[in-house]
Order: sequence, then structure tokens, then C-alpha cells
Amino acid sequence: MYRWLIKPALFLLPAEWAHVLAFWMLRTLHRIPGGRALMRAVWGAEDRRLEVSALGLQFPNPVVLAAGFDKHALGYAALCSIGFGAVEVGTITGKAQPGNPRPRLFRLPADRALLNRMGFNNSGSELAARRLAGKRGDLVGVNIGKTKCVTDAGAIGDYVESAERLGPLADYLVVNVSSPNTPGLRDLQAAERLRPLLMAVQNALARVCNERTPPPLLVKIAPDLTDEEILAIADLAVELRLDGIVATNTTISRTGLVTPAETLTALGAGGVSGAPLKARALHVLQLLRGRAGAQLTLVAAGGIESADDAWDRLLAGATLIQIYTSLIYEGPALPRRLAQGLLARARAEGFATLAEAIQHHHSHSSSKPLSRGGP
Ligand code: FNR
Repeated sequence: MYRWLIKPALFLLPAEWAHVLAFWMLRTLHRIPGGRALMRAVWGAEDRRLEVSALGLQFPNPVVLAAGFDKHALGYAALCSIGFGAVEVGTITGKAQPGNPRPRLFRLPADRALLNRMGFNNSGSELAARRLAGKRGDLVGVNIGKTKCVTDAGAIGDYVESAERLGPLADYLVVNVSSPNTPGLRDLQAAERLRPLLMAVQNALARVCNERTPPPLLVKIAPDLTDEEILAIADLAVELRLDGIVATNTTISRTGLVTPAETLTALGAGGVSGAPLKARALHVLQLLRGRAGAQLTLVAAGGIESADDAWDRLLAGATLIQIYTSLIYEGPALPRRLAQGLLARARAEGFATLAEAIQHHHSHSSSKPLSRGGP
């Protein structure tokens, strides 16, 4: 139904309008009596064999909605009802901000990709905290970034403000230093700037969580870093005892795209997501796994469209996988299709559950090249 009816209608609209409308429809359906149960029956992925433990949490399945879809923490409950094991809300910044002028989101159908320069449009950490305070049972990661008008000197304070408000409400917290659409943000990935930022966020979490255990802390990185820079971040994350890394955000690269160069030039700046990211995001994951071993929980994002893609990321060291762009192209049945496809692969290898397969492959991955070999 999505492919033949809903998607053609949505794709007649400008991309951001289509997003607003589709997200509103999901939230409305979720609110009406019986809607939540209906959504869970049609799209949910509830099966004990899909459960995985990661970051000290029990995920109903390893398929997570990547940051950027629910920037305002408005609809995480509805999104958890379409088969996602968790939803990462945000990026949320210290203060509310409108983001870049529209249009700022474009489809690149020939590449099964999107190009966006949204610029962290969001309602700010204060309102997001009020929305997250109503969370019941769903697993929600919170992705935080820098308010655009805050200077470089104030960047740490802005992240700390968000961490203090949102940390106690988050199941896990992600420090986003990798979006290409906030000037200067990605410079925070340099180890000498990342170290004080992450330490300040860690201290803030310890402070506000008081007696309670602070949420797991991860950092989200760009695919455009050099391999050396990626390894330096892996080392830093291990040294600071971070819980994990989300790899990767969108790319500023335009190489290898089928969409004509003139079209891309006309669309302008922004980050590309979807299929063109696949190879680099997988490589980044392999680099991280090779360097950090099992010391970090790796969350894979970037061009995951099928259960095969998701399986490759799990074999390469990820415990959770995230999607965004493929959801736009494939529709709300995709999370369950991915989760069940992963279980089918685990069972084909003789494992009873997905968790067993992941555990097996991770404990053998340091000595084994990427392959679909049996146990
Ligand atoms: C994103 N992404 C993103 N990431 C992030 O950390 N904070 C954000 O606010 C956003 N915003 C955003 C908006 C739009 C329209 C897109 C398409 C993407 C990046 C996203 O979370 C993910 O890392 C990449 O899109 C790669 O995954 P996919 O889309 O290839 O599955």
C-alpha cells in the first residue's frame, strides 16, 4: 500500500511537507482509540527472539529510528509502534531555533538518497524535556547538538545545558558533533576539542543524575573524517569510557551520485543520506570495531535499506542499526521487515535468537573477516 498508493501521493509534495504530513498522520492514528493497538498489529515487531541487550538496556529489536525524524520529541511513542526497537529524538539544541530557510530537504530518487540542510530546527531542550517527561516504557535515545547562534566559546555550555535537562530523561544520550549544517560543528570532532566537550557532558550527567546511574553516553561521527581521525575518536571514546559511537551522520561528499551534477549544484549545500553512504559507513564501522574491539557499543547508520545491509553491520561489529532515508523510500513496514529479516538470517545459521547470533559473531569478529559463514 505504501509503495503503490501513499508514497506516490507523498512524493508529489515537497519533501519537508510530506514529512510533516506523514508524521502527523502517524501521531494522529496513534492517538485515536485503538490506534496504537492497530499500529502494533500491522507494523509492530514483537517477538522475544528479536530482543537484544545493548548499553545496559533491553531493546525489543535492534532497529532504531535515526536522529532527525523526530527532532522535537513529539512522536516517539507513535514511532515505537511501527516496529522500531527505539527512537533517537533530536537533534535537540540548548535553545529553540528555526533552522535554515526552506527549501532545505530534497529527494534524490535516482540515488535512493536525501539531501538535507535542515540546520537543527527544533523546539529546544526545555520543551523537549517536558515532552520526554511523559515517556512511558518506550526506549528513547536523545541526540543533542549546538545552538547555531552560540559561539565556539559557548559550545560546551550549550551541550551541558541540554545534557542537564535531557540526560535524566534519556535512555541513552548522543553528543552530535557531525551534522554538516551547523557552521563549525564538525570541527568539534578534533580530539583536542572533543575531549573537553565529552568530559563536560559526562560531568554534567553525573551531577544531575545524582544517586542514579547516568544514561549511556555516545558520540555521533561523520563519514567524511579521515581514517586516522576516526581511529583517534575511537581511542578517545575508550579512554573516556564512553559507552559507544553512532557511525555515521550524513556526508558532504557528492562523489558517485547518479543525480546529475547540475541538479546537485542547483540544490546547494547539505548532507547526503541513504544508499550512497552505505560503503563508507560500513568501512567506518569496521575501523571502529578493529580499534575499539568490544569496548564500545557500535550503532550503525548510513544507507541501511535491507536486512542484508543490516546483517552486514551486525557482523561488522554493530549491536544496533539505525535507519532514516530508507524509511522514506520503503515506508512503515520496513522496521519489521528488517528485524524479521535479521532473525531469518540468524536462524539460517542455526541460532535460536538474534542476540545469540550477534554475540557469536562479535566474539569471533576480531579473527574473522566480514562474511556470512556459519557458527
Ligand atoms: C538527518 N540526520 C541527523 N542526524 C543527527 O544526528 N541529527 C539530526 O538532526 C539529523 N537530521 C537529519 C535530517 C534528515 C532529513 C536526514 C535525512 C538525516 C542523519 C541521520 O540520523 C543518519 O545519521 C543519516 O541520515 C544516515 O542514515 P540513513 O538516512 O542513510 O539511514
